[in-house]
Amino acid sequence: MIAKASAPAKTILFGEHSVVYGEPAIAGAVNKRAYVTIKPSESDATIFRAPDIGFEAELITPQRKYILLKGKPGIIRYILESLYRVHDHTPIDITLNSNVPIGSGLGSSAAVTVATLAALYRYHNIRFNKQSLAHDAHMVEQAVQGVASPLDTLVSTYGGLVYLSRNKKVEHFNVKFNAPFVVGYTTKHGNTGKMVKDVRNRRDRNPKIINPVITAMGNLTNYAKQAVLKEDYDKIGELMNINHGFLDVLGVNTLELSRMVYNAREAGAIGAKTTGAGGGGSIIALCPGKVDEVAKAIDHDDNILKVKFTRKGVSSRVFK
Ligand code: PMV
Repeated sequence: MIAKASAPAKTILFGEHSVVYGEPAIAGAVNKRAYVTIKPSESDATIFRAPDIGFEAELITPQRKYILLKGKPGIIRYILESLYRVHDHTPIDITLNSNVPIGSGLGSSAAVTVATLAALYRYHNIRFNKQSLAHDAHMVEQAVQGVASPLDTLVSTYGGLVYLSRNKKVEHFNVKFNAPFVVGYTTKHGNTGKMVKDVRNRRDRNPKIINPVITAMGNLTNYAKQAVLKEDYDKIGELMNINHGFLDVLGVNTLELSRMVYNAREAGAIGAKTTGAGGGGSIIALCPGKVDEVAKAIDHDDNILKVKFTRKGVSSRVFK
């Protein structure tokens, strides 16, 4: 029997950092996916292969350990943690194919975790639904990372655009948001934990300045929600630009990120901002009709990815 599953990457459109202080956020699944295939092993070892990144390892699943055979470890801890929780430790072959660049700020670990768990549930004929899967994937991320926001695994499971309210209620937008984005990512990975801490320190040193900005970021996200519902791309673009300014106030933008943002705007993007934790990582530029121009303007030193939001969340099936 073969079990296959795939799950999308995500991008945060509005609300990174302010969401840590209880403000709302908007994130969406994009059309880049992680694909996981599980089948019985041809030997008596469990082997994990990720040919796109040239990685191969033998997994000792009961101990959450691995023996490196090829490449550099990256995503392996999420796979091991998922196997540890769900798998009965019989030998399997597990293959990951992915067009989500690791460390690009697109939530590659969440996409891989959601796809791995869904494939495992199928393989073992364990009942699951999106709610339980999103929850379990969040638990895996938390076990591996220490802290993890539930947003990545939620978006990766359900797909589409998601609004997380001030009281942590999740709303799924029922709109067809198909304007193209360009993601620009630096070769320097942002460290989410460190960036969250830096923002907290800045806020503690300057509460009367930073607290109102965080509140304003929440209000901006709520304006953005209305603009998304109206599919008002110009308004969304304007709010993205304002949001980038707020992220500057919080101190998470870098020269590389802001250079990409300004180059993207210059080349015709109607909005561009840092996405995710900052300090490295990625920007997103909303650029209907200007994708090629914007991609060209920001890919001198950095990497680009052309993406669109997608309503397609996790998908899985078995082949007998
Ligand atoms: O680093 P990313 O893309 O997972 O985004 C982090 C978003 C923060 O708001 C900075 C942190 C969080 O947990 O919400």
